[in-house]
Amino acid sequence: MIRDNITENKIKSLLNGGAEVFVFDELDSTNTYLKSLAADGANEGSIVIAKSQTKGRGRLGRSFLSKNGGLYLSLLLRPQSSAEASLMITSAAAVAAARAIEKICRKSPKIKWVNDLFLNGKKISGILTEGVINPQSGQLEYAVVGIGVNIVEPKDGFGELSNIAGAIYSPDEQTDVFCELSAEIVNIFMEYYKALDSKEYMAEYKERSMLIGKDVSYIKDEMLYIARVLDIDNNARLILERNGEKIILQAGEVSVRIN
Ligand code: BTN
Repeated sequence: MIRDNITENKIKSLLNGGAEVFVFDELDSTNTYLKSLAADGANEGSIVIAKSQTKGRGRLGRSFLSKNGGLYLSLLLRPQSSAEASLMITSAAAVAAARAIEKICRKSPKIKWVNDLFLNGKKISGILTEGVINPQSGQLEYAVVGIGVNIVEPKDGFGELSNIAGAIYSPDEQTDVFCELSAEIVNIFMEYYKALDSKEYMAEYKERSMLIGKDVSYIKDEMLYIARVLDIDNNARLILERNGEKIILQAGEVSVRIN
């Protein structure tokens, strides 16, 4: 594991808070690494970033392809807010990442419920939040929010994921946004995090949603359903209609596909 002190110092200088920043050329998973720091008592706001991952992890037990050219970032939180508010961390992170990409890269990603960012119909970013509950108190001891962003498309492409995965820039575009984008995602997120309960970011979440008004399919209890998305509520739940019936899907329950 080779640390990159130059990049660490640059990101620190761009952050609004005085967080610990660890940048590696390669890690198995930034979430896994940060969880071990958290177990050893690392402070809220600690950040682990890698330029590639060998075992990047995604939602629902999937893997997350993490080639060079991407940004793989994990942020440690020790939320004092209610468990209900903590459920909103991922939605706030999705809006923060979309905003940061818009500010630094001048591209405007859409959000696909729950936490994927899309640009030109392809997934450019995913978020995995993992929490650890204190068995004594039943309270959330810490949460690691992990964000992967495909900044530049690899020269050899995304292989078998090439139909769904995309990047902010094509392989021949010159970019140097790694540090600015890392810091901006964290800076914007931390503002939302201070007032998670206010759910102020949900208005922008809805504006950026690529599902509202669309027909989607999803699998639940081994059954395939097709329904129309009516709305996303302030708890980031998906409100659907099927055969005149209203259905509410919780984040974490299913993944949906646009028809
Ligand atoms: C998904 O799309 O299912 C979520 C992907 C989350 C990937 C990020 S990259 C940084 C952090 N480290 C991981 O192993 N996963 C998250």
